[in-house]
Amino acid sequence: YGDSNQKIDYVFKVVLIGDSAVGKSQILARFARNEFSLDSKATIGVEFQTRTLVIEHKSVKAQIWDTAGQERYRAVTSAYYRGAVGAMLVYDITKPQTFEHIPRWLEELRGHADKNIVIILIGNKCDLENQRAVPTEDAKEFAEKEGLFFLETSALEATNVETAFLTVLTEIF
Ligand code: GTP
Ligand code: MG
Repeated sequence: YGDSNQKIDYVFKVVLIGDSAVGKSQILARFARNEFSLDSKATIGVEFQTRTLVIEHKSVKAQIWDTAGQERYRAVTSAYYRGAVGAMLVYDITKPQTFEHIPRWLEELRGHADKNIVIILIGNKCDLENQRAVPTEDAKEFAEKEGLFFLETSALEATNVETAFLTVLTEIF
């Protein structure tokens, strides 16, 4: 994770979006600092964190932006999406509403972001399998139809978080 005196070949901006409490901030905390908190507070405004990694022998600084899922705390939409080359569209596998809202998030994203943006759909909290309310197949089918990558993750157990970011960053590359 330490990367202070490294030469940077690329900086890639990636945005996190999705309903409140789906786990966007914890996915970012897991990726950027390998941390997780159960009493995570709702995000207000915009935050971002960076992590530098090596992809295909180049050092890539991933600058990951995180905003509030709650309308009243959200950042100015156009500024949030400006310059983004990747997006992670997150829902909670235990909360069907958060999946039902995905088309709306996708519409906002497509309305504001660059048309070549790389998008991954993420079903988070896959550690809560006994509370699952969104079948994997439904999400997979939606992702295929819309041309999105798709993965289920757990920020809590660190499942697929690294893979999700690498999928997006490698595809941008
Ligand atoms: P907003 O900032 O309001 O948009 O919410 P958010 O999407 O950033 O959600 P946040 O990361 O704050 O997580 C909300 C709650 O879900 C917190 O209590 C987290 O600890 C919990 N949580 C996040 N990821 C996971 C996960 O993978 N598994 C489980 N079991 N809980 C998680
Ligand atoms: Mg948050």
